[in-house]
Amino acid sequence: MPVRKTLCGLSEIPDGGAIERVAAIFDRDGAHMIDESLVLTRHGTEVSAYVNVCPHAGRRLDWAPGQFLIEEGLLICAAHGAGFTLATGECVYGPCRGESLMRVDVALDGADVQLRD
Ligand code: FES
Repeated sequence: MPVRKTLCGLSEIPDGGAIERVAAIFDRDGAHMIDESLVLTRHGTEVSAYVNVCPHAGRRLDWAPGQFLIEEGLLICAAHGAGFTLATGECVYGPCRGESLMRVDVALDGADVQLRD
């Protein structure tokens, strides 16, 4: 049976906004669990999660811990202004256009947002 971790309640994420949660996920090699800062975004009852690292220069996306800039429906990287869609994490504006944030698999269980294996 899969082990799931509750990251937050759906209502903790502003609709059209983003929050940070730190959780243990597998590293890129899939060999080790590491604590990562995650960005959780929401559109209605659709929740997406990404590792809080910009594909442009590897910087965090937030301008202060857990504080994300959202403009016209895009998550804006605080470092150089790349804009990412909330639903897919694709960069549609800025220096890494066409690249994407690293997605983390989450799902709703009732009113809870859970991290999947
Ligand atoms: S590190 Fe995000 S736009 Fe440069």
